[in-house]
Amino acid sequence: MEITNVMEYETLAKEKLPKMIYDYYASGAEDQWTLNENRYAFSRTLFRPRILVDVSKIDMTTTVLGFNISMPIMVAPTAMQKMAHPDGEYATARASAAAGTIMTLSSWSTSSVEEVASTGPGVRFFQLYVYKDRNGFKAIVLTVDTPFVLPPNFSLKNFDELNPGKLDKTDDPGLASYFAGYAVAQDNNLITYISEGFLTAEDARIAVQYGVAGIIVSNHGARQLDYVPATVMALEEVVKATQNKVPVFLDGGIRRGTDILKHWLLIGRPVVFALAVDGEAGVRKTLQMLHDELELTMALSGCCSLAEITRNHIVAPWDPPR
Ligand code: FNR
Repeated sequence: MEITNVMEYETLAKEKLPKMIYDYYASGAEDQWTLNENRYAFSRTLFRPRILVDVSKIDMTTTVLGFNISMPIMVAPTAMQKMAHPDGEYATARASAAAGTIMTLSSWSTSSVEEVASTGPGVRFFQLYVYKDRNGFKAIVLTVDTPFVLPPNFSLKNFDELNPGKLDKTDDPGLASYFAGYAVAQDNNLITYISEGFLTAEDARIAVQYGVAGIIVSNHGARQLDYVPATVMALEEVVKATQNKVPVFLDGGIRRGTDILKHWLLIGRPVVFALAVDGEAGVRKTLQMLHDELELTMALSGCCSLAEITRNHIVAPWDPPR
């Protein structure tokens, strides 16, 4: 079957994966109100396309923390990718590098930092905890997540050396505090912190005060507190609070190139589902489809470069009627 958009990978992944694993990847918190809203909020943000513009050449390149990337789409950290496909994080790393974009490796990955770095060149960020050995990784993305249960035969490779017996199964209710304690052992040579999980101006201001290099507006893929707003609804508040001092990114519910014109972002589940269906080739295709959809959206909206995309190109749900 020819895949034509990233949502189709989710349908196929649902057929292929054991129910427990599919549910772990797909689900959101409680009533899943925020999970649905992450998606619907995009559909309430509309375009104001400009047509009297020469769009014969479209440039989608940009930089993130000084690293050049091919498009404003990056791969968010998602835990335990080997449950989706035996190649797991290796496949995602290779596909992200081939697409010319940044992969963020989760601390709760089923491949270690060293293993992923050994897949070859590519800019990679590392999420959550600060390790002494950061070879091959350029920035740290800090997140607070909740404990969960890891099926047998999978292990959290970045913690193997610390305490293999204890961490093979992450159903220990004390795990969060164990990790929190580990995070205190921070290394002063750390290159950069990007902080993830912001939804309010108050927190964004504090993060900027503390010197973060960037902020990711995120509700963790709607997996934690239900009935928080969709990330796209919180974006403007956070952007205003940062007063352009740091770049602001967003994740949650991005499934289309049209979503991307509206904002700058990372994708989580689309990578996992494509990985489950077709390994590295699936992740490559997902990134390619989003790239092509964004290119078309830019052309049809009259934007030749990312710098030309302005607030005037969209109507947000809360904007006054024009
Ligand atoms: C996540 N997310 C996540 N975030 C993080 O900082 N560390 C992690 O280990 C994980 N693990 C994880 C697993 C799975 C299965 C999902 C779906 C998500 C959150 C992730 O980085 C991102 O915020 C969301 O996935 C973005 O939403 P979408 O694109 O999945 O809708």
